[in-house]
Amino acid sequence: MAATIRPFQDGELARIKEITVEAFDGVSIDRNIEDRFGMVRDHDWQWRKVRHLDQDVDREPGGIYVAEQEGAVVGYITTWCDREAGIGHIPNLAVDRRWRGQGIGRQLIEHALTQFRTVGLTLARIETLEQNAIGRTLYPDLGFEEVARQVHYCLALDTTHDADT
Ligand SMILES: CC(C)(COP(=O)(O)OP(=O)(O)OC[C@H]1O[C@@H](n2cnc3c(N)ncnc32)[C@H](O)[C@@H]1OP(=O)(O)O)[C@@H](O)C(=O)NCCC(=O)NCCS
Repeated sequence: MAATIRPFQDGELARIKEITVEAFDGVSIDRNIEDRFGMVRDHDWQWRKVRHLDQDVDREPGGIYVAEQEGAVVGYITTWCDREAGIGHIPNLAVDRRWRGQGIGRQLIEHALTQFRTVGLTLARIETLEQNAIGRTLYPDLGFEEVARQVHYCLALDTTHDADT
């Protein structure tokens, strides 16, 4: 059965953070950093990742939508509109593992695209990691075209690096 997609409400931040920390294990830059460098200042990758949700809420709370099944929030999508540029952005998207593979991710993206069209935007942007097989399948399947690849680097500041050695 299709999920109900509706605007996010203030009291639901803890729930979408809960979905986030569970969903992004293995598909997050913050997790990759922890695997390579360990915790940073006693903060784990989950602590850093959920701050992205705080940023999304601060930037455009009206651009966040949740998917509801059986009266519970089972997924969400965050969006923001750069109206001047005509571009809609989708920074975060996740579905509770127990509800995956039923079209909810697709429904959330389609909902965001409808909103972008409604406000007259020209393009929609979304990103995924090379290691995220689902994102790399789902987004092209929805019509997104690849325009660039990016490499993320990290350096521990308590070490020195001699370029000649
Ligand atoms: C991405 C995500 C939101 C999709 O949610 P979902 O509700 O399962 O998505 P849907 O059921 O609408 O679509 C799943 C699609 O993913 C693709 N997919 C699923 N499993 C896959 C796999 N193992 N390998 C490749 N593609 C896969 C398929 O295209 C599938 O569509 P189909 O069922 O029509 O074949 C969910 O997997 C998730 O929360 N992932 C972790 C967080 C994340 O990666 N977020 C996006 C960051 S870019």
